[in-house]
Amino acid sequence: MRISIQHLTKIFPSRTKGSAAVHAVEDMNIEIPSGQLVGLLGPSGCGKSTTLFMLSGLESPSSGKILFDDQDVTTLAAEKRGVGLVFQNYALYPHMTVLQNIRFPLDNMRIKKSEGNARALDAARLVQIEDLMSRKPNELSGGQQQRVAIARALVKMPNVLLLDEPLSNLDARLRLQTREEIKRIQRTTGITTVFVTHDQEEAMSICDTMVVMKLGIVQQIGAPQSIYDDPNNLFVANFLGTPPINIFKGRIKGGRVYIGSEAVAAAPYADREVYVGIRPEGFIYNEHGALTLGVDHIEVMGRDKTVVSTHPSSTKPVVRAIIDSDVALRQNAAALRFDIKPYKLFLFDAETEERLR
Ligand SMILES: Nc1ncnc2c1ncn2[C@@H]1O[C@H](COP(=O)(O)OP(=O)(O)OP(=O)(O)O)[C@@H](O)[C@H]1O
Ligand SMILES: [Mg+2]
Repeated sequence: MRISIQHLTKIFPSRTKGSAAVHAVEDMNIEIPSGQLVGLLGPSGCGKSTTLFMLSGLESPSSGKILFDDQDVTTLAAEKRGVGLVFQNYALYPHMTVLQNIRFPLDNMRIKKSEGNARALDAARLVQIEDLMSRKPNELSGGQQQRVAIARALVKMPNVLLLDEPLSNLDARLRLQTREEIKRIQRTTGITTVFVTHDQEEAMSICDTMVVMKLGIVQQIGAPQSIYDDPNNLFVANFLGTPPINIFKGRIKGGRVYIGSEAVAAAPYADREVYVGIRPEGFIYNEHGALTLGVDHIEVMGRDKTVVSTHPSSTKPVVRAIIDSDVALRQNAAALRFDIKPYKLFLFDAETEERLR
């Protein structure tokens, strides 16, 4: 199922006198090809859940359109859309077994019990919990409960699967495992899936396409790697990457970009104030390099090492430069110099915070 989101807007009117209306989603436009796994990514309150609720039919848009293939579903009732939804705080029915929980949506559709059981078992197999069918939710681990919630969303054989932070209740290891699982399930079923998360690593690791949002407004849409390599603005650059991108205050003068008094790159733009973003992996150690960083300490991580540094123009407390572990650094140096890989350096207008291209 192809999903087309056109000028989608949701404004929650103000409830009390004096409080402003909330523009939860503003003029959103996204084309999602059939069978894709799309990640909605952004900080808390940026409109991710609201978008999902509008796709599911639980919330109606203030304006704009939603199409599933060529059908306009904007005003279609939720139960007629053929969507499976796993909520941010998914709730299983505590008094029901796993089987009953998974079968529940089918019982509501008055499907015969034998057929319901068979379909529930199929869905359970897909998420690999078929051995747990007679247990109650309180007899399951968090990850297993999560899978029951996903199986329950899959059992109706939805055209569209909507997952709202489905991994938020899991510990780090289970999160990792379950996100791979979701990717596998999505590949196996080919169901067009929208996956909400505020965790950029999670989104980068499993999504075909990522939609980065801020305050209800889409900032960038694209493949995870291409957004990482080519961010539209300071917000997007900052949001993607662990450790995060380094940001310096700088200026362009006479076709070169300066951080402090050091010229670090060519910049074919008019003179202006800028933010200079340098990815942690964008530094090359060189005794005569362009940029001097004050060394705070060095973290050795096996494959690589991180020079944790300071710089007066950095907008963050520390600057992180990741280099291969076999690069020999000058011992006990208070400062080290680095060259910058040009494709790891981004310039943003200091006022608009938009990327200079
Ligand atoms: N029913 C509502 N009435 C009024 N405002 C709402 C309502 N639901 C959401 N909002 C507001 O709309 C904005 C977007 O909320 P939404 O739940 O979509 O954010 P989110 O991106 O899912 O955040 P989180 O990561 O915290 O789940 C927020 O400012 C929120 O306070
Ligand atoms: Mg939410």
